[in-house]
Amino acid sequence: MKKASLISVGAYTPKHILTNFDLEKMVDTSNEWIVKRTGINTRCIAKDEVTSDLATKAALVALQRSGLDKSEIDALICATVTPDYFCMPSTACKIASNLNLNNVTAFDISAACTGFIYLLDIAKSMIESGSKKNVLIVGAEKFSSIIDWSDRSTCVLFGDGAGAAVISARDDNEIIDIHTSSDGSKGDLLITPGCGTVNPASQEVLDKKLNFLHMAGNEVFKVAVQTLTKDVVDILEKNKIASEQVDLFIPHQANLRIIEAVKQRLNFTDEQCVVTVSKYGNTSSASIPMAMNEAYESGRLKQGDLILLDAFGGGFTWGSALLKFGGK
Ligand code: COA
Repeated sequence: MKKASLISVGAYTPKHILTNFDLEKMVDTSNEWIVKRTGINTRCIAKDEVTSDLATKAALVALQRSGLDKSEIDALICATVTPDYFCMPSTACKIASNLNLNNVTAFDISAACTGFIYLLDIAKSMIESGSKKNVLIVGAEKFSSIIDWSDRSTCVLFGDGAGAAVISARDDNEIIDIHTSSDGSKGDLLITPGCGTVNPASQEVLDKKLNFLHMAGNEVFKVAVQTLTKDVVDILEKNKIASEQVDLFIPHQANLRIIEAVKQRLNFTDEQCVVTVSKYGNTSSASIPMAMNEAYESGRLKQGDLILLDAFGGGFTWGSALLKFGGK
């Protein structure tokens, strides 16, 4: 059986930067509050680009770095909760078209901030089953389109961006283990209530702002810290790996305090931990591949490095992954 290996990574962020000081002029907040409670200073906002545009640019970088020809990609999967269109066509089909990838399997998945871990799980299974050889995965979000810019409790947290990776059949530097899970009973704590079949699009839905993201931040925070800490401890124990053996811990970037809590529990050093939330805020499914790309471009991530990923998000969904980086 061939192993699945993450052989390249890429990312793209829109050019417009929204600072905490800009937000001070929009809602009743302060730079001090945002930095202290979240660790976020800036986030990128897409003005004239949609989700598939961000995704296409990230995917192109990952594709070029993979050294593969486009014709060798046989599946493209996009994780997003801010797709180009509500129902169809999928964002993945649009990205495939933008990249001139013909006749590939293309579909979207919805796992909110855990999207990239779910993508890895699916791509690994496809490759190990022998059904695909090279799978392009993309986490892409235009969260600015589902944010109520008058709600200070959510608008300071999120940003736009995309990250991509190529997963290929290889003999070494494999994806070692992945755990994904969910608890739908807590779905209401992080939800866009409108425009689905429960509350179809209507003037009332717009008036009540049900098309925007609603979050019980404090409750989400507590569950995220507990769940992520347990998940990360479990995957390391299961694979008999000590935290000091991990070269890079690349967590989902939602809130610096959540990252710090897990980091402390595992005794990770600053050198082991990749933190980009200060620059980009929470970019949901894009946050892990964006952080991985930053580590790669700055020379912190090298071929053969042992990486630990974790994420938690709406659904609730969560997951973790252990892999050796296969990129050059
Ligand atoms: N500026 C100033 N004050 C704000 C604010 C803002 N942007 N947003 C909320 N507040 C206020 C609240 O109104 C509240 O005021 P009150 O005490 O007078 O009622 C106070 O700050 C504390 O609010 P609380 O929600 O308890 O703060 P918190 O310490 O939990 O931090 C979050 C809020 C959202 C930053 C934090 O809960 C969080 O990060 N949650 C998880 C987010 C997340 O991970 N989401 C996605 C899952 S991946």
